[in-house]
Parts: sequence; structure tokens; C-alpha cells
Amino acid sequence: MIDLPLVVLTGAGVSAESGVPTFRGPDGLWRSFRPEDLATPEAFARDPKLVWEWYAWRREVVAQCAPNAAHRTLVEIEAEAARAVSGSGHGNFTLITQNVDGLHEAAGSRNLLRLHGSLWSLRCTREGLRFEDRRVPLSQLPPVCPQCDALLRPDVVWFGERLDSQVLEAAWAAAAGAATLIVIGASAVVQPAASLALVAKQNGARLIEINPDETPLSAYADEILRGPAAIELPRWWKAHSVFDTSRR
Ligand code: OAD
Repeated sequence: MIDLPLVVLTGAGVSAESGVPTFRGPDGLWRSFRPEDLATPEAFARDPKLVWEWYAWRREVVAQCAPNAAHRTLVEIEAEAARAVSGSGHGNFTLITQNVDGLHEAAGSRNLLRLHGSLWSLRCTREGLRFEDRRVPLSQLPPVCPQCDALLRPDVVWFGERLDSQVLEAAWAAAAGAATLIVIGASAVVQPAASLALVAKQNGARLIEINPDETPLSAYADEILRGPAAIELPRWWKAHSVFDTSRR
């Protein structure tokens, strides 16, 4: 039995088997690129075209990728959690992701908190207008705002920037109220991932980690599934797919 509410926190590793590169590790993006050149407001101010070329390349890569069995299993879990408590689908299941690839949405996840924004959303640097643009390639680099001609930026959170406060508050509340929290494919070295898991644990949640490698969270985990998410999560779900709603 799985205790509800269930919160799942995903990082780049959940999309690894879809073909999306992770950031750290032997083939990680940060082996070939420096975050300070490409993923900071200073880098964008210095050379918006360079930053945009990198994001345009990532959009191209991700556009070729499809959700994998781990993304799909999370959709099943969400639907089952909604069914488990009659009359209310909310609050039973929250998916929090650090990923900007859009694969959870493509799979069909609904109650999703995106901590780091989206590769598919653009934001006007002058007026803050946000809109989705899925064109690959974009018509010009760097792109400009259709309303005011100012530069557009990727609507993602860069190093040194604050996370959206509403998203962050919702993530804290979900983690603090979780009876079970599963961390999938996150190295847990970028905050607030590790803190969200630890606050859940401090409030009595069962902490489960799915990751082929050890992370700083492994020491706190009640259960560890050492393997790729697309194999381990469907297997875990098959073995446990009954929710216990008595703790809600
Ligand atoms: P990382 O690249 O830091 O970590 C990916 C994690 O996934 C590692 O712990 C791997 O062991 C694990 N992993 C690899 N393959 C896996 C698989 N098949 N199944 C499950 N796990 C697997 O990615 P994040 O922790 O998401 O931020 O990184 C967090 C943030 O750091 C990113 O959002 C990005 C980056 O710098 C910004 O750009 C602001």
C-alpha cells in the first residue's frame, strides 16, 4: 500500500531514457558547456544570441524525444490517486519537476509544478509577456517580442534567479504534507530539490529514491531503487498499485 498524499519530484534522469541529455554525469551537458556562459542572466545580457543558440539546440533535441515508461507511469499513478479518494482528485498527488523539456505534459500529467520553467515558453524581457512557442527552429535568433520588438528570453529559471514564488510555495506545501515522496532522477545538488525531500521526510513521509547512482539524499531514503527510471518506476508501481487513504 502507498500512503497518500503522494508527491513525486523528478529531475533530468527521468527523461534520460527518452534521449534528453542530463546535466551532470559522464555525458552530462555541464561536461561540455559552462553554466555561467549559457544559463545565467549575465550570460544572456552579454551574448543573447549565443544563449539562444544553446536553447534552440536543446529545443531541437527535445523535439525528437517522446515520453518514456516512467513519464507514462506517473500519469497512471495520478489517475489512480484521483480515483482513490472519491469526489476529489486534488491534493492526493503532486508532481514537481526540475525539467524544462515538457515530457511530463506530453505524457498527460496534470497536477504538475515546474520549478524551472519550460523550454517551450518564451518571455518578453521588457514587458514580461509569456507565451508558448513550439516552433523548431524558431524563425530568428534571438527571437523578438511580437508585441513590442524587445528581446525574448527562454522562460526558464537560470542560475542566480529566483524560482516563481507561487510554484515554490505550492511545492513546499505539497512536500510538507506528503505521506510518500519519490525522488526520481535528480542529483539533488541543486536546491530546492534536496530540501523538498528532506522537509517531507522530517514531517514523517516515506522517502523513496529511484536513481541508478547514489545521491546526497540516498542516506535519508527509506527505499532505494537503483536503476533506470523507465524500468524501476513501472516495476514499483505494478508491485504497489493500491493507495492507503487512511492517513489523509
Ligand atoms: P542532473 O543532471 O544533475 O542529475 C541527473 C540525475 O539523474 C543523476 O543523479 C543521475 O544519476 C540520474 N539518472 C541518470 N540516468 C537516469 C535514469 N535512466 N533513470 C533515473 N535516473 C537517472 O539533473 P537534475 O538533478 O535534474 O538547472 O539537475 C537539476 C538542475 O541542474 C537542472 O534543472 C538544471 C541543472 O543545472 C538549471 O539549468 C537552472
